[in-house]
Amino acid sequence: MKTLKDLGDLKGKRVLVRADFNVPLDGTTITDDGRIRAALPTITTLRNEGAKVIVMAHLGRPKGKVVPELSLAPVAARLGELLGITVPLAADTYGEDAQAKVAAMSDGDVVLLENVRFNPEETSKDEAERAAYAKKIADLGDAFVSDGFGVVHRAQGSNYDVAADLPAAAGLLVEKEVTALSKATVNPERPLTVVLGGSKVSDKLGVIENLLGKANRLVIGGGMVYTFLKAQGYEVGTSLLEEDQLDKVKSYIETAKANGVELVLPTDVVVNAGFPAGDTPINPEVVPADAIPADRMGLDIGPESQKLFHDAIVNSKTVVWNGPMGVFEVPEFAAGTRAVAQGLVDATAAGAFTIVGGGDSASAVRNLGFPEDGFSHISTGGGASLEFLEGKTLPGLSVLE
Ligand code: 3PG
Ligand code: MG
Repeated sequence: MKTLKDLGDLKGKRVLVRADFNVPLDGTTITDDGRIRAALPTITTLRNEGAKVIVMAHLGRPKGKVVPELSLAPVAARLGELLGITVPLAADTYGEDAQAKVAAMSDGDVVLLENVRFNPEETSKDEAERAAYAKKIADLGDAFVSDGFGVVHRAQGSNYDVAADLPAAAGLLVEKEVTALSKATVNPERPLTVVLGGSKVSDKLGVIENLLGKANRLVIGGGMVYTFLKAQGYEVGTSLLEEDQLDKVKSYIETAKANGVELVLPTDVVVNAGFPAGDTPINPEVVPADAIPADRMGLDIGPESQKLFHDAIVNSKTVVWNGPMGVFEVPEFAAGTRAVAQGLVDATAAGAFTIVGGGDSASAVRNLGFPEDGFSHISTGGGASLEFLEGKTLPGLSVLE
């Protein structure tokens, strides 16, 4: 993989940097700026080298239309605050305003281009259309740095096609992510424990299949666990259930047995009358995992499972965690996610290598108040880190070889 030093002297050069600034927003308030902070080392390094730094990013999925709520304006403001400079936001990605703002840059300046996904070509399936669009972006720069690790699993105009038009290299974040995730995939120190949560099994099929041949222990919680519980013959009440994945999940349970992979599932869960919404009163109750009442919904793992999961994690040398254990945004259903995060912190302190993967889990650990240095690595990638763990070829990385 090419890295910054392969780009040579960047003094006075216009460097296009693709970042992943897809941050959670509450209106125009950024509720977790982790992805912006993660981009600072590359931006600062380039500025120190005297480059003109032109950053591009997406926010949400505006589907090729200008959606004012998905403007990068809050990001430009936050990036400027973190860098201690003004970061102008161009009104478009490659149009007149972008060109004018870039032309006005001095060495060391930073400009942010407006949401690349406001352009239909960015995510077009038509390669020629994407390539023509990428050329217009490339005209703004002299070199391209790919630093948006969270999008390297996508082949899109601003992170993939543009690399064909300019000298291209990985930024420091992409380099750091690849190094860390490789430690969990290439000869990991064992036992290797993988903790998976989040709502859907269907999002994690590839990673589960791959890990059943690699991990020593697979710990499962979150919304996806109810399909596992059902596959074991338990009733799950009104909990999230993917009926169409039941056969797959049954085969995973078999494969785990056959491969000697220890499958750790919750023995108790926290249920509620329904999904917490608005001011409907919450009535949490702990029940055994094999006795979820017909009219109750599982929203977190219970206290016994918290201990079980914590112990499984602590007795490991490498731990990868992706996906919350419950509806952690609601304090009554956050204890499971907290226990897993604490498990990783304790494992790290005991010398294990620990990775938090996934936008949601990364936000969860920060919002639950865990210190970032309690983990060996907090990935900025959700889908990207999962696909990396699946062993897939990621287009945004292969283009940097
Ligand atoms: C993410 O948030 O996972 C990345 O920014 C990629 O976003 P996407 O899933 O909309 O492509
Ligand atoms: Mg995503």
